[in-house]
Amino acid sequence: MPKDIDPKTTPHHVAIIMDGNGRWAQQRGRPRLFGHHAGARRVREIVEACPDLGVKYLTIFAFSTENWKRTQTEVAGLMTLFRKYLEREAKDLFEAGVCVRFIGDRVRLDDKLVSLMDELELLTADNDRVHLTVALNYGGRDEVTRAAKRLAYEIEQGRLTHDDVDAETLSKFLDTHVLPDPDLVIRTSGEARISNFLLWQSAYAEYEFVNTLWPDFTRDEFAKVLVNFGGRARRFGAVPA
Ligand code: IPE
Ligand code: IPE
Ligand code: MG
Repeated sequence: MPKDIDPKTTPHHVAIIMDGNGRWAQQRGRPRLFGHHAGARRVREIVEACPDLGVKYLTIFAFSTENWKRTQTEVAGLMTLFRKYLEREAKDLFEAGVCVRFIGDRVRLDDKLVSLMDELELLTADNDRVHLTVALNYGGRDEVTRAAKRLAYEIEQGRLTHDDVDAETLSKFLDTHVLPDPDLVIRTSGEARISNFLLWQSAYAEYEFVNTLWPDFTRDEFAKVLVNFGGRARRFGAVPA
């Protein structure tokens, strides 16, 4: 662990909105997909840095429920990239001790991609070195809506009553039910918004907006953001003693 990282204050769960691939490509006069490929290569470095930096859970935003609004070329290119990425990286992720999970609605994703996601989850289920969650066709509102729908169904079936509905029960119906809440949410590319990412789970997360475009976000910059996090006072609504 680098000397300026304090295991007592390092975030347990970091979530990243990997933004800026399109602008990175544009700056180089290349098509947007060129940026997505560069962005995908950056993921490995950040995942590999986690155990060293004391981060146990890493969640990355790869494709939002709103990203379908992009051109057919970009959407299709991204879907192919996700498929190829999973095929290529599965073995290394497994061997690196990474436990991989996916959140988001799988219904709209193609069967081949979904079966690769299922296989990778199964293959890496017993790994515990770092827990990587990939948000694919993920939207916070969509996730909460799907959870509410399933909760309503349980009530309709008589397995729960309306009195059982509280924050803890609702959380159990979210895609993230096995994950701790994120301590830190990082967004690259200078945009200061959350774009429907982990709306429920980030209630008390710290936010860090960095100007770097995702394909340029290095392990060193990641470490700097974590050091910065260590200096923050988290109060969770209370007055410190
Ligand atoms: C983030 O980069 C990746 C995805 C949303 C899939 P963008 O594609 O949003 O890049 P910019 O914001 O246009 O630069
Ligand atoms: C958020 O980035 C989604 C991902 C990084 C996958 P966007 O680029 O889609 O968000 P907006 O449109 O700028 O809010
Ligand atoms: Mg963007």
